[in-house]
Amino acid sequence: MSDQPIPFSPDLTLVPEVLPFFDEQTNTISYIVKDPHSDACAVIDSVLDFDYASGQITYDGADRIVSHVRDNGWTLEWLIETHVHADHLSAAPYIKAQLGGQLGIGEHIRTVQDTFGKVFNEGTAFQRDGSQFDRLFRDGDSYSIGSMTAHTLFTPGHTPADMVHVIGNAAFVGDTLFMPDGGSARADFPGGDARTLYRSIQRVLSLSSEMRLFMCHDYGPNGRNIQWETTVGEQRAHNIHVGHGTSEDEFVRMREERDSKLAMPKLIIPSLQVNMRAGGLPPAEDNGQTYLKVPINGLVGPKD
Ligand SMILES: [Fe+2]
Repeated sequence: MSDQPIPFSPDLTLVPEVLPFFDEQTNTISYIVKDPHSDACAVIDSVLDFDYASGQITYDGADRIVSHVRDNGWTLEWLIETHVHADHLSAAPYIKAQLGGQLGIGEHIRTVQDTFGKVFNEGTAFQRDGSQFDRLFRDGDSYSIGSMTAHTLFTPGHTPADMVHVIGNAAFVGDTLFMPDGGSARADFPGGDARTLYRSIQRVLSLSSEMRLFMCHDYGPNGRNIQWETTVGEQRAHNIHVGHGTSEDEFVRMREERDSKLAMPKLIIPSLQVNMRAGGLPPAEDNGQTYLKVPINGLVGPKD
């Protein structure tokens, strides 16, 4: 699937307004994508503020997005998750409660829910059918944001459920590619696969060279300032992991070698438990308190 041709024709004459919101704690970039011809907008990959040491959730970052939409009198039609993030908690339900809109993710969320439902020993009350979301996207699906048509592209590899969203001349790549000097996302989480990721990236790079690409993360490699926007042409020419015609085998060797040395993201354990529930918390226990679990050696297994 991830090596299939692009199943739609992007409208490069459509130029959506794209407003980035950078989260310093997790190096995540959330976006408001606004229809230039109406008040409609979508929010992509929003972030909750979570202090793991104290267990406290706050909403400063999400409130900035809510205020921006509200102050401009815009209508939020969609909340999009490009995938189940392992580095931050989604703010989608919090934003949806205030602004409305439908919450969408790739249909293979079911695979992710099945995998992590087992890891966290969730009971039968945890549905693994994606029903916590309003819409499950398949490859080549489309949806409307005001007068704009958005298209979905299935791009697994980083996780089994990643989707790239193409809206006019803008593509939101989630965790497939990073900026050209950052390379690509890791592929070693459960259900990830470097070879699959390479094929998904080739799909993204087969879009028009002038297609604008918006990253989900940037870590400012080599001390440069944070950036989030590039183009397919720039990625083809300069991406340090896949540019210059890097072969699939070269990429897989590099990616697996690199991933074997990466530490787990600081918030992976809370993030997975919340994000597999579409940003919801587990049910409260009989004392009224909500808890998150820590699976001892359950996520990666003991190192030998
Ligand atoms: Fe990710």
